[in-house]
Amino acid sequence: MGLDDHTKLPLGYSLHDGYPSVPHYLDLRAASGLSPKTQSQATAISTGSWYGCYITYDAPGEESLPIGMGRIIGDGGWYFHIADMAVHPEHQRKGFGGLILKALLQRIHAESPADGKPYITLFADEPGRKLYYKNGFVDSAPGELGMAWKP
Ligand SMILES: CC(C)(COP(=O)(O)OP(=O)(O)OC[C@H]1O[C@@H](n2cnc3c(N)ncnc32)[C@H](O)[C@@H]1OP(=O)(O)O)[C@@H](O)C(=O)NCCC(=O)NCCS
Repeated sequence: MGLDDHTKLPLGYSLHDGYPSVPHYLDLRAASGLSPKTQSQATAISTGSWYGCYITYDAPGEESLPIGMGRIIGDGGWYFHIADMAVHPEHQRKGFGGLILKALLQRIHAESPADGKPYITLFADEPGRKLYYKNGFVDSAPGELGMAWKP
């Protein structure tokens, strides 16, 4: 199955700009094994992110549901942080994570100023690491060490 461009999604799957609804976002994070978030936290993603995209699946006779997503928090100039990379376990290992990541990177390269290099970061949980390595990411350590505030 080739998922290198957006026209080649398999039957029933569609790629959209934007973000899943709040309940769908919370469900998708939970189903993917990511930490739970509150309703208020989820509400901020559509207003506070720079760009996002998600994939829906139309199972015959059922409601169309988001099965994968990714988003970017950024200033649009040079600093871009990739977050919420998640694909529902029933739809993993079909190339959707790669497709979403490529769509995010494409958007950064298309929209960020041409006279400078974008600085693109993410925190890589174990399931995503190979995907990130394959798409041009390297460990930031030892030169830079990622840190998260955990009082
Ligand atoms: C990380 C994650 C988003 C990847 O999503 P995905 O849709 O499974 O990603 P892909 O299918 O593009 O790639 C995953 C693997 O499937 C393989 N693959 C891609 N298309 C395939 C196909 N048609 N058949 C079989 N395998 C395939 C890829 O080569 C890759 O293999 P590798 O890991 O051995 O290199 C997903 O595993 C996930 O949501 N995990 C839980 C949440 C999480 O940890 N997110 C990361 C936070 S940093």
